[in-house]
Amino acid sequence: MKLAVVGGGSTYTPELVDGFARLRDVLPMEELVLVDPAADRLELVGGLARRIFARQDHPGRISWTDDLDAGVDGADAVLLQLRVGGQAARDQDETWPLECGCVGQETTGAGGLAKALRTVPVVLDIAERVRRRNPDAWIVDFTNPVGIVTRALLTAGHRAVGLCNVAIGFQRKFAKLLGVAPDEVSLDHVGLNHLTWERAVRLGGPGGEDVLPKLLAEHGDAIADDLRMPRALIDRLGVVPSYYLRYFYQHDAVVRELKTKPSRAAEVAAIERRLLEMYADPTLDEKPELLGKRGGAFYSEAAVDLTSSLLRDTGEVRIVNTFNRGTLPFLPDDAVIEVPAAVDARGASPLPVTPLEPLYAGLVAHVTAYEDLALEAALKGGRERVFDALLAHPLIGQIEYAEKLTDTLIAHNREHLAWA
Ligand code: G6P
Ligand code: MN
Repeated sequence: MKLAVVGGGSTYTPELVDGFARLRDVLPMEELVLVDPAADRLELVGGLARRIFARQDHPGRISWTDDLDAGVDGADAVLLQLRVGGQAARDQDETWPLECGCVGQETTGAGGLAKALRTVPVVLDIAERVRRRNPDAWIVDFTNPVGIVTRALLTAGHRAVGLCNVAIGFQRKFAKLLGVAPDEVSLDHVGLNHLTWERAVRLGGPGGEDVLPKLLAEHGDAIADDLRMPRALIDRLGVVPSYYLRYFYQHDAVVRELKTKPSRAAEVAAIERRLLEMYADPTLDEKPELLGKRGGAFYSEAAVDLTSSLLRDTGEVRIVNTFNRGTLPFLPDDAVIEVPAAVDARGASPLPVTPLEPLYAGLVAHVTAYEDLALEAALKGGRERVFDALLAHPLIGQIEYAEKLTDTLIAHNREHLAWA
C-alpha cells in the first residue's frame, strides 16, 4: 500500500506518521511519500518521519518530493492537508473580519470564505492530477474548510471523503470519562463540518444505551468548561455542541475576546518555529509533546481508521464528510454533511439520521446555503458571488457588513485569486 500526503511538509506530519507507525496493523503501509513545495520543511519533517518509523521498527519506506505528479504516482490514497498562503494568510482571515465586528476565524464566517476561495481551485487541480495518474486512488481531505472543499471534490466526481478530528476528539474524551475503550463509544454526531452536535453517546455499538444524560449529570462542568460554553445551555439542550458553535451562540462575546489577543495564527506560527527547531535535532525520534498544543489531537487515528476502511473495504462506521443524499431530508442531496457513515471500497454511505430538531436544523440549512454560494464563488469568482455568500452567512447577513467584508476579503487575497 502506498500513501501520499500533500502538504507533507506540515509540522502536523509527525502526528500522522506516529499514527501510521503505531497503527500499522490497521493500515499496513509499504510506502509513504510526503509532497510539499517547501523543500526546506520537507527535509526536516521527512527526516523526523523516517526516525519515527525506525524507532518503531516500521518497515515502510518514507520519501519526499516537491513534484506532485511524481509523488502521487501509484498511490492508493492521497491525504490532503495543505494550507494555501500558510499561517500568514490565516492570520489575515482571523483579523480583518473583526474590524466589522464579525468573528475572525479560519473556517467560520468571512475568514472561512476567504480560505475556501484560496483553497478550492488548488485542491481541485491537485485532485485532477491525482486522478490522471491513479483513477482509483482515494482522496482523504483534511484541508479546511472541509465541508466546502469536500463538496467541490465530490461535485467534480472525485473519489473523496472529508475528515475532521472533532468527532474522534469527543469519542476519546467521553470514553475517558466513562472509563471504557474508545471503540465502545458510538456518537450520534450530526451537522456540517465545524457545525455539529453530539445528540447521543451510545455504549457498545450504535444500538447501545445512550449514556449522554449520565455523562452530563456527572461531568457537565468539565464538558462545558472545555467548550467554554455555559453549563446551563448544555443541560438545557441535552446535547453537546462542538466548540465551533461558540462562534454562533456567543458570537459577540467571542469577537470582543478575539480583539484583545494575538491571532491563533500568530500562536501557531510561534509553535511551528519551535517545532521545526526540534525536528532538526537528529536524535529526536518521536513526536514532541509540543505538537499537543495544536488543535489536531487524534487526527492520525481518524486518518488511519478512515483510510483503512476505504482501502481494506471494511464497511466500518466512521464519522466523515460526504454527500447528503437524502440523509437530512431538508437539505439538497449534494450538500456535504458530517455524520456517521459506513465506509468501504465504494466510499462513504451515511447511516440514517433521526430527524434533526428545528433548533439545529435551521442553522444547518442556513449554513448549507452559504456553503453552496461559497463554492459558487470559489469556482467562478467575481465580487457579486463573494457578496452573495457573505450576505447568506448567518453570522453576517447585513448589506453594510457584506459590502465591506467583500472588499476587504478581495483586497487581502488578490494574490491567491485568479479572477481578482
Ligand atoms: C481542529 C479542527 C481542524 C483545525 C484545527 C486547528 O483540529 O478540527 O479543522 O485545522 O483544529 O488547529 P490549530 O492548532 O491550527 O489552531
Ligand atoms: Mn476540523
